[in-house]
Amino acid sequence: MPKTAAPKLKTQYVCTSCGSVHARWSGKCPTCDEWNTLVEEVVEEQPAAGRRILALGTRPQKLADVRADAIQRLPLPIGEFSRVLGGGIVPGSLVLIGGDPGIGKSTLLLQSAVLVARHVGPTLYVSGEESAQQIKMRAERLGVGDSELYLLTETNLDAVVSAIETMKPKLCIVDSIQTMYVDGLQSSPGTVTQVRESAQRLQAIAKANNVAIFIVGHVTKEGNIAGPKVLEHIVDTVLQLEGDRFQSFRVLRSMKNRFGATSEVGVFEMTGDGMREVLNPSEAFLAERMRHAPGSTVAVTMEGTRPLLVEVQALTSATQNPMPRRTANGFDYNRLFLLIAVLGKRVGIRLYDQDVFVNVVGGLTIDEPAADLAGAIAIASAYRNVPASPDLAVVGEVGLSGEIRSVGQLNQRLNEAARLGFARCILPKTARQVERPPETLQLLPVRSLGEALDVALGQ
Ligand code: TYD
Ligand code: MG
Repeated sequence: MPKTAAPKLKTQYVCTSCGSVHARWSGKCPTCDEWNTLVEEVVEEQPAAGRRILALGTRPQKLADVRADAIQRLPLPIGEFSRVLGGGIVPGSLVLIGGDPGIGKSTLLLQSAVLVARHVGPTLYVSGEESAQQIKMRAERLGVGDSELYLLTETNLDAVVSAIETMKPKLCIVDSIQTMYVDGLQSSPGTVTQVRESAQRLQAIAKANNVAIFIVGHVTKEGNIAGPKVLEHIVDTVLQLEGDRFQSFRVLRSMKNRFGATSEVGVFEMTGDGMREVLNPSEAFLAERMRHAPGSTVAVTMEGTRPLLVEVQALTSATQNPMPRRTANGFDYNRLFLLIAVLGKRVGIRLYDQDVFVNVVGGLTIDEPAADLAGAIAIASAYRNVPASPDLAVVGEVGLSGEIRSVGQLNQRLNEAARLGFARCILPKTARQVERPPETLQLLPVRSLGEALDVALGQ
């Protein structure tokens, strides 16, 4: 009788950050140097002879002979989402959508599923997290009506794959990849092995059936998409839904896109009945501004290719602690330290005995150095208790010598400031000549932080 060897089980340690596999556990991943990221997994050892040599049938072909017809994208009737994807849904693509729990991933995807089902064709929503009743209740809030939307509450990936193969939907949504498991793998759902294997199978099924698949991915405490980096390598597009859970604005950002630019963002507002597109984000972000308050300035930042005006607020108050506090909300923490140092050294605003708080209104995070000057003016304005003029917008990066450095895409920024009714704009003097500046906007070029404070606070 031929011997059928029982599959050998072996224990290995997989890094949840970089996906590397190690034979022994250690506190620090030897590959990526992250701490506490190795987790134990039990896998079946495959005999080398059993491994198949892949793709015997494919031959190299001449690049010139490859047909590159323009991709026929499926329309997605949520404009902000569609733009972030690069102008619609690419059939056969695998898209990962990450974000903190409760930020609105399921809501946004269910809304999209409803609209695609109504306007494009059959859509399958697979949920491993919520029951059919829960989804139905949510869908009713979003106004599902009668459409070709099918629901599958399932965590077994094989069942999902066979549903896709028989139904051949235009779009399939898998919420979430961490709840799916592949039969035969020893590890439990959510582990690196399961997540990677599930994603690989979904990628293959998407390509084979020309079905677009959106998968939801949870993020870890550090804000990375859970599961190893390999997940990001497997998928075609990685989107991230960001925002402050206590604020209503949400920003959908593209981190990787094989079918479009990564610089696009979409802005949404979480409302009682789902995510609503914010077509005029600058207006929305400035809506609650107190116009004559000290410590408030308006920065003109770029979110991708889109100019966005946001209010930067600062507060300084005499500290009670030996170590003064510095708090940054939506503003880069290290840049806050830099601005405080430059203010002290170059313009004599010494904040060693002051607590300093900086906040970007609306739950938005800006990491662009072009918002430096707005931050610095806000801090100085708070410290001196002098408001900046309410019709003033600010653009510029602050250098260590207190010089104001030029920033990119100045024209778009100035046009947006003018469109929102700002009358004056501080900008770097070193910036290249602005072509056709908006007529209603007075340009105030400055060379140094001191000059900028003179112009903004008139002292
Ligand atoms: P959800 O989409 O479940 O988040 P995620 O899938 O990213 O975890 O959204 C959860 C929150 O959104 C929840 O606290 C309730 C709120 N919400 C609304 O404010 N309006 C709505 O129409 C819906 C459906 C949810
Ligand atoms: Mg969810």
